[in-house]
Amino acid sequence: MTGEPQKSGMESDVQHISKSKKRQLENLAEEHGTPIFVIDHEKIRQNYREFKKLLPHVQVYYAVKANSDRGIVKTLHEIGCSFDVASMPEFMIVYENIRDLPDRERQDWIWDKIIYANTIKPIETLQALDQYKPLVTFDNIEELRKIRKHAPNAGLVLRLRVPNTGSMVELSSKFGADPGEAVDLIIAAFDMDLAVEGLSFHVGSQCTNFDNYVQALNLAANVLSEAETRTGKRIRILDIGGGFPVKYHPGVLSLRVLTRKLNAELKRLFEPDIQILAEPGRFLVANSCTLVSKVIGKAFRDGKPSYYINDGIYHTYSGQIFDHCVYPVRAFKEGVTQISAVFGPTCDAFDTVTMSAELPELEIGDLVYSENIGAYSIVSSTYFNGFPPAKVVHINR
Ligand SMILES: Cc1ncc(COP(=O)(O)O)c(C=O)c1O
Repeated sequence: MTGEPQKSGMESDVQHISKSKKRQLENLAEEHGTPIFVIDHEKIRQNYREFKKLLPHVQVYYAVKANSDRGIVKTLHEIGCSFDVASMPEFMIVYENIRDLPDRERQDWIWDKIIYANTIKPIETLQALDQYKPLVTFDNIEELRKIRKHAPNAGLVLRLRVPNTGSMVELSSKFGADPGEAVDLIIAAFDMDLAVEGLSFHVGSQCTNFDNYVQALNLAANVLSEAETRTGKRIRILDIGGGFPVKYHPGVLSLRVLTRKLNAELKRLFEPDIQILAEPGRFLVANSCTLVSKVIGKAFRDGKPSYYINDGIYHTYSGQIFDHCVYPVRAFKEGVTQISAVFGPTCDAFDTVTMSAELPELEIGDLVYSENIGAYSIVSSTYFNGFPPAKVVHINR
């Protein structure tokens, strides 16, 4: 299994991790076994600080769905982050951190720091949420009727449908009221004696087409101004959603480029006293996690070295399916590389991590790793074939 090293487009300019980081991961694998999903909490804190620095007037609600690990939520809670939850179990993961606060303080915290940003909520969830009165999103009249009946004390945020052009994960076919219907929905809510406090949108996850944000802000500004004219009421919250891109490869423009545009448009289009929220998920956690797994089998198939590892598409690499994200598999070992196939451990051919990893010749027992795998990955891991999700290991807590 030898040959000239070949470069695949995406991997060619990616920085490889340092020797000391490799040693640390190898030591963790030795200590905990494999596969391990290593979460670096200092990276999460750095991402949060960077986001705050570049969008200083924005309140940051971490989208828990990206990675609902309790340790991550705790770290973000400790540094003052707010939270976007999509279900009652996610709400409770956040709630654990404030359970011991006095009643009044806890209620204030929920008002100020949680948004339930799933536009569709089961009736039982609305009933459970009503006592906490968090912000909740909606985008259609049936949902409004449900909220009127089961959570009349919630603060409402209307989600607008906005362009998701070119985003890695498209959301607008499922969510968001058409801008043409938005004001009528706001009026309908006020007519039901509900409180509409804000407007939200999501430009699609891993949004690298920054015009999506510009168009969304312009649509939101028009809806806000028409709603205020027609209802005579101020809507004070603008939630600019998630979508903030991660530098999975050097071609992705940095957050700084996006935020320059965002800050200029926010200033141009909205009153200075508007409260701005964002719901970053991926940006806060993706680059904080690394997966380490082990070669458990080896073959030569279709002219290629083929390695079977103990994590795969039904586990941490599930993001390759659900999130449309690609996680290059790299070796700890150095040497001349060959294009190789990497398969997961289950008895299903769909469990194919890649047909084109650049790997040196590996032996059974060798370790491999994938970086930037913190978002929408382990959260969709299954127990298929009886293999459990990777063990989570925390560093720099
Ligand atoms: C309502 C909502 N908010 C925030 C997010 C987080 O988005 P991202 O991870 O792209 O920042 C999502 C992701 O699907 C979402 O659906």
